[in-house]
Amino acid sequence: MTGPKHSRSEIEQLGALLRAGKLVAFPTETVYGLGADATNSDAVLGIYETKGRPRFNPLIVHVADLEMAEHHVVFTPTARRLATLWPGPLTLVLERRPEAGLSDIVSAGLDTVGIRVPDHELALALIRAAGRPLAAPSANPSGRLSPTTAAQVVEAFGGRVPVLDGGPCAAGVESTIVAVTGDIVTQLRAGALPRETIAAHLGRPVAVARPGGPITAPGMLVSHYAPRARLRIDAEAAEPGEAYLGFGTRDGTLNLSPSGDLHEAARNLFSMLHQLDGKAERIAVAPVPRHGLGEAINDRLQRAAAPRNQLSRTL
Ligand code: TXA
Ligand code: MG
Repeated sequence: MTGPKHSRSEIEQLGALLRAGKLVAFPTETVYGLGADATNSDAVLGIYETKGRPRFNPLIVHVADLEMAEHHVVFTPTARRLATLWPGPLTLVLERRPEAGLSDIVSAGLDTVGIRVPDHELALALIRAAGRPLAAPSANPSGRLSPTTAAQVVEAFGGRVPVLDGGPCAAGVESTIVAVTGDIVTQLRAGALPRETIAAHLGRPVAVARPGGPITAPGMLVSHYAPRARLRIDAEAAEPGEAYLGFGTRDGTLNLSPSGDLHEAARNLFSMLHQLDGKAERIAVAPVPRHGLGEAINDRLQRAAAPRNQLSRTL
């Protein structure tokens, strides 16, 4: 997916802003990120303030390549094997190297860091221009939908943060997060890289973290990714007053993928919820299969549908 062209000087300027402790929103293959220099605690705090994000929720660090990652975290052989899937929508939660200079605030007090190499030319160019690892959560106010276009970021933050416009994001859902402890791999969040793909790469199944289990991502809040409208999922058809988000042959106000393609559905998910959110008080969503990318899509839909006051089963 290509967006507007960007001059080298524009990217250099944004890199200089990041080095100076400012925030810059940038595209990745998954969603837009709200970036800050991950070695600068004040800059990282700016992310939490701008998003209105609970302090306990750690941030993903974005690096340009494996070498940059190795500077900040410890790779076990299994982690190294998973890293051959980079660049890509896979975040590895690994033991941090405390002396390497990442701000403690990035990992919210944990001794691990979530880290990835995004598969997006502009993101990589920006990280290189900044010369720093970039902490970046999705560029949305906390608990709201993740943005997949630059316009959504501008709308959310009212022009307070410069946005590098890379056009619409290719994947449309966030990265898959796995914790790697020795050779134990546990999926903490379903995402744009299907668990089956990771398992095939490792040659063995990948376990899923149980809510309330020993390893959890603090971000596994039950209500998350929430639109303003009430959401009803696995809906065979719309009821009166509902906008219907279709899938496959179940057509609606909008359709995630008329051909039933899960990649297309993932890419459309947040932007279609955004569009319907502006139009209706209630949104019903057609059933989406649960295999492959469907796991991440259903996970996001369930969180978006959870009551707003239901905070967390995992904390
Ligand atoms: O695709 C993505 O991952 C996007 C783009 C911008 O890269 N980023 C993203 O970040 O989704 P965010 O902050 O919205 O989600 C980060 C998730 C949170 O659920 C957080 O709890 C988890 O990662 N996380 C980060 N570091 C962790 C750690 N050390 N241990 C466990 N979970 C961690
Ligand atoms: Mg997010």
